[in-house]
Amino acid sequence: MMTDITQLLIEKDNGIAVVTINKEQKMNALNRKLVEELNHVFTELKQDKEVVGVILTGKGQKAFAAGADISEFTGLDESQAYNMSKEGHDTFNLIENFPKPVIAAVNGFALGGGCELAMACHFRYASENAKFGQPEVNLGIVPGYGGTQRLIALVGRGRAAELMMTGNMIDAQEAYRIGLVNKVTDIENLLEASKKTINTIAAKAPLAVTGVIECVNAFSDRTLDGMERERNVFAGCASTEDFKEGATAFMEKRKANFKGA
Ligand code: COA
Repeated sequence: MMTDITQLLIEKDNGIAVVTINKEQKMNALNRKLVEELNHVFTELKQDKEVVGVILTGKGQKAFAAGADISEFTGLDESQAYNMSKEGHDTFNLIENFPKPVIAAVNGFALGGGCELAMACHFRYASENAKFGQPEVNLGIVPGYGGTQRLIALVGRGRAAELMMTGNMIDAQEAYRIGLVNKVTDIENLLEASKKTINTIAAKAPLAVTGVIECVNAFSDRTLDGMERERNVFAGCASTEDFKEGATAFMEKRKANFKGA
């Protein structure tokens, strides 16, 4: 199915794809079409061999994404709500399972679905003005894009329960303190800091990096035995050329030249 991309900007810089939610006037709120666009764009980027990693951010200096688009909530019946949540899960799982690094560069409010989107990325960097929260209880719902599960995995059950039950917002420093974000920078340096880390990762053995993503995600998947997944990924890496190259380069005291094979 063709999806015309009207709410996302995609720029590529030396193999790094920067995907920007481009609805600044509406605080980059995530309508259902936008979630579909994200699905389409990440599917395409996955197949793009030039891409070494993705940075997801929001346009402007106010919002990463201030949640699902609340104007789409009125008149939503039970089965439509279920499907909306399912569509969000499919897209956010696609991002979480993306085989190359995906960093959320949180440049302002990450509320509700916006916080959930940031949590679906492999990790998060935030600007000092960023604010996080799951305010769904103010609207009479619960997080529906994976937030109830991912927030627990990131900050623990007690903190997650408090954030979701109160709907309170926290600032970037508090998000850093509880492990929701990995780094806080000033807003001017947010993209550069994210790019720098993608470049660090891009210099490693690509199949091993994909393996790390798979093993990390296995931790939260109750249908999988994480240790068994680790054994399989570890064994799979052992048969790659990059593994031979990495080990040989270390022994020869030189830098490894990885090929992604
Ligand atoms: N859905 C739809 N529209 C949204 C939105 C959302 N989640 N968040 C912001 N907007 C819109 C506002 O309605 C406003 O539109 P308008 O200019 O046509 O009136 C515009 O974005 C600017 O937002 P505004 O509220 O005027 O900005 P602010 O700086 O005063 O406040 C927030 C910023 C983020 C605190 C506030 O917009 C907010 O609380 N948003 C909703 C957050 C939320 O509950 N998200 C969870 C959804 S499940």
